[in-house]
Amino acid sequence: MKHLKLLALTLTAVSLVAQSSRSRPETGAAELEKAVLKPGEIWPDDRGLHVQAHGGGIIKLGDTFYWFGEDRSQGLDRAKRYVSCYSSKDLAHWNFRNRVIQLADPENFGPGWVLERPKVFHNAKTKKFVMYMHIDGRTAEGSYKIARVGVAISDTVDGDYQYLRSFRPLGHESRDIGQFIDDDGAAYLIFEDRPFGFRIARLSDDYLSVEKEMSLIPAHMEGGAIVHYQGLYYVIGSALTGWAPNPNKYATAPSLEGPWSEFRDIAPPETKTYGSQSTMLVKIVGTKKTTVIFMGDIWRPGTQWDSRYLWMPLEIGDGKLWLPEPKPWTLDLTTGEAVPQ
Ligand code: DGJ
Repeated sequence: MKHLKLLALTLTAVSLVAQSSRSRPETGAAELEKAVLKPGEIWPDDRGLHVQAHGGGIIKLGDTFYWFGEDRSQGLDRAKRYVSCYSSKDLAHWNFRNRVIQLADPENFGPGWVLERPKVFHNAKTKKFVMYMHIDGRTAEGSYKIARVGVAISDTVDGDYQYLRSFRPLGHESRDIGQFIDDDGAAYLIFEDRPFGFRIARLSDDYLSVEKEMSLIPAHMEGGAIVHYQGLYYVIGSALTGWAPNPNKYATAPSLEGPWSEFRDIAPPETKTYGSQSTMLVKIVGTKKTTVIFMGDIWRPGTQWDSRYLWMPLEIGDGKLWLPEPKPWTLDLTTGEAVPQ
């Protein structure tokens, strides 16, 4: 009996150890917990805090993904704007790396100045990490009237980025920005130039400026995201409804220079993109399949720190694209297969 009790105690202890290592997994460890992505839920980082990377962007270096986005944590200095960086090997477990931007109004834009949708590009030639962000503020005409991009730079992916300057890309107004890196490594910015539409433009060699316009898509949209899949470019955008969700749409083109097709719904319009707004499309090329992930933000404007993420594998091909109803799913990064749970 005594032995049985001892055995029971030992088993309980083993299972507790197993549970605690499951709740704070070491990313990269072979025994990694199954990486389930849960659209719309709280996504705790390695500290147990909801990931603060809203309106973000993702780059991959080696086998590691880095996610940058707006850090809207409660209790921060209201005069400053923050960008945080997280890393992951499986897109499901995120380690907090650094608050890479902690910036006070860098160019005297005034109270209510805006830093949104940060995106980081890695320049292989200069070895610098270059961050683009939407910089804005209030003028006599109203809010969001400055309409520029800001550029910041760092020697390391998760270092403290140094703010350099802001400008209007190719002289145009720029609000929401999206990042796109083509299969040949060329880096592009997609920006919203109201009232003309989406502009897609290539960055300069050093990535510190915007060099060449590829397309102006005359659509009143924001939240631009692009993917190059099986010889076609797909662009997704949302309507201009502020933080409120709307039916996001997509168009396709054989080249970034167009011609672009008409825009079509990516999901049943009555769901308003399941309450989310497009931010980025990420392509995972595996041994068996190429999966394209829709990354959207579920904004909670009154409680921004609690805004959620809707990431789902898309049904895509032959010029068609569809966002399935959000459900938990897993991704096998080796085969590229996404499996609903
Ligand atoms: C919608 C944009 O996509 C967001 O990034 C943000 O700029 C809000 N508008 C502000 O209303």
